[in-house]
Amino acid sequence: MRIVILTGAGISAESGLGTFRDKGGLWSQYDLAEVATPEGFARNPHQVHDFYNARRENAARAKPNAAHVALARLNGTDGPEAAIVTQNIDDLHERAGSRGVIHMHGEVARSLCGACGSRWDAAPETHPDDPCPECGNCPTRPDVVWFGEYPYRLDEIERLLRNADLFAAIGTSGEVYPAAGFVETAHANGSRTVEINLEPSQGASRFQDVIVGRATETVPVWVDGLISGES
Ligand code: APR
Repeated sequence: MRIVILTGAGISAESGLGTFRDKGGLWSQYDLAEVATPEGFARNPHQVHDFYNARRENAARAKPNAAHVALARLNGTDGPEAAIVTQNIDDLHERAGSRGVIHMHGEVARSLCGACGSRWDAAPETHPDDPCPECGNCPTRPDVVWFGEYPYRLDEIERLLRNADLFAAIGTSGEVYPAAGFVETAHANGSRTVEINLEPSQGASRFQDVIVGRATETVPVWVDGLISGES
């Protein structure tokens, strides 16, 4: 069985990382136009680095939870294998043992040269005038995809979705495209679709199955079912 799993901020919520759109979420504390757009970066690059320096520090302190760990069991050795596509910029899937994770919105632990496009492992604290190790120029920016920019690896994701037998969206509000449209692509190509979320998202009716609850409780049970062949 070919499985494609899309994860969002909700899977890392119980590791202590804030989501974006829940009550008290990041976008109620920060103006996304100022910290998560190319225009905001052009206006105030220091403020943008400060925002992502805090995200990087929080992510480094956080530990993978039972949901990340359960998904890492879908590695083909004791049953089905899943491709994990995440909107998250943390590395909790990798630290739980998942390999080949597709970070469609980039990674906060990486830096990107605004001049030549080189990428490298970010220092714990970054600044716009950090020189690029490749070309020596700047600005340096976090290697994250901002609103108004194209997510990474969309062709590869599209191919995975077209060939999937099962598509699962875990811990995402489904409000941000193109990820929010993956369920339609998967469904149109004959895949079964399931949403696993704290509460049904606004787009829950687009999924055939909806599993409601905290990711640390629902995901391990769901993975057990896949491995035993019951779901
Ligand atoms: N278990 C399962 N789901 C949860 C949990 C939990 N413990 N806690 C919260 N959720 C759900 C919420 O109900 C919500 O539907 O996770 C979802 C989080 O939604 P968002 O905050 O919108 O996060 P996400 O969907 O990942 O956002 C997409 O938006 O701002 C951009 O680039 C950013 O990648 C991000 C994208």
